[in-house]
Amino acid sequence: MTVVGIDKMGFYTPGMYVDMAELATARGEDPNKYLIGIGQSKQAVIPPTQDVVTMAANAAEQILTPALKAEIGMVLFGTESGIDNSKATAVYLAHLLGLPQNTRAIELKQACYGATAGLQLAADYVRVHPQAKVLVIGADIARYGLRTAGEVTQGGGAVAMLVTADPTILALDTISSYHTEDVMDFWRPTYRTEALVDGKYSTNVYLDFFKTVWTGYQQQTQRTIADFAAFAFHMPFTKMGRKGLRQILPEATPEQQTQLTTAFEASQADNRNVGNLYTGSLYLSFLSLLRHGQLAANSRIGFFSYGSGAEGEFFSGVLQPNFRDGFVEEQLAQQLANRRRVSVAEYEQIYAAQLSNDGRDVQLAVGEETATYYLAGRQHEQRQYRKQ
Ligand code: COA
Repeated sequence: MTVVGIDKMGFYTPGMYVDMAELATARGEDPNKYLIGIGQSKQAVIPPTQDVVTMAANAAEQILTPALKAEIGMVLFGTESGIDNSKATAVYLAHLLGLPQNTRAIELKQACYGATAGLQLAADYVRVHPQAKVLVIGADIARYGLRTAGEVTQGGGAVAMLVTADPTILALDTISSYHTEDVMDFWRPTYRTEALVDGKYSTNVYLDFFKTVWTGYQQQTQRTIADFAAFAFHMPFTKMGRKGLRQILPEATPEQQTQLTTAFEASQADNRNVGNLYTGSLYLSFLSLLRHGQLAANSRIGFFSYGSGAEGEFFSGVLQPNFRDGFVEEQLAQQLANRRRVSVAEYEQIYAAQLSNDGRDVQLAVGEETATYYLAGRQHEQRQYRKQ
């Protein structure tokens, strides 16, 4: 059977962050609660000039040459921060990127699970059509509201993945284990801009779902923890992934426990400095593992995807010999290093300045915007996207 998986990966997050120790102090909390208890150091601040479409375009632009763009036959956009209840973000994205018109472009939603649905559907499609190239996006803006318990788990950004045959980064295994249950741990009715969440409950459901799909995966494949060099977790905040790993670590030998813990530290490094990007979080964690980990080619990586509401999936893949060629390390490192730290007061002001829901014409201040793709405002109820 054709080997199919992730060929290239790009990541974009806006050029501003708020420091978590500073935010903790402003909220009257011990900084160690945020830094250690939650496990976050910096949180991306999303200006009104960036939405999921522009962030996805900025991530995809890193990995798509003009020749590759011409070959994309499908765009699957996972998000729960959509900008339109009818028209898919993927259509806006395909136009912005200049993709061919003989492409399918759709949006997928299931909380933080959307990008995994995209990845698996893309992989199955390429297995049937080995020449096809599919662009899969995981992009979100995590908003819980100022001074809420969830505030420390906000953030935002986009991961873009090219799914092809004979991939450069990861060959996906065909067997995976998934589970869906109607659970009210996190939801956002269409009239709300911020999510409703039962935070403690959602962390428990996450861990229960992980146990269920990990057990199911092992039964289907006869693999055990000994078959894995590392795990990547859906990571709304790094402590959540750490709790996931702790749940299965006793199944490993002491020596492997050390190896898996070291790999986990690599997988949380970038998420710790970006925050939550909902459906993109698992894939940012995977990218972080690739960037900061000491992984050998042909290692098997396990992935736990979780989307509240709820859907969980455990799947796996094998790292390919030249996996480091599938992303642009220098670009990712610079992007994170060059961000500007904003004060808590400025973060609060930017948080409140999101595009209003009243449909009025708006012209945004785009002076500070350095990204290739950005949102300039709204006219006649249409978002005005720009490329520079
Ligand atoms: N030093 C070190 N750790 C500290 C601390 C301190 N001074 N003060 C508190 N902590 C630890 C707590 O012990 C706890 O650790 P634990 O989870 O390992 O027990 C952690 O910090 C968080 O403290 P807690 O009191 O539980 O935080 P909270 O009530 O403010 O809520 C969330 C935390 C995650 C539930 C909340 O941020 C939230 O609702 N987030 C959104 C939902 C979400 O992300 N769900 C994830 C599943 S998808």
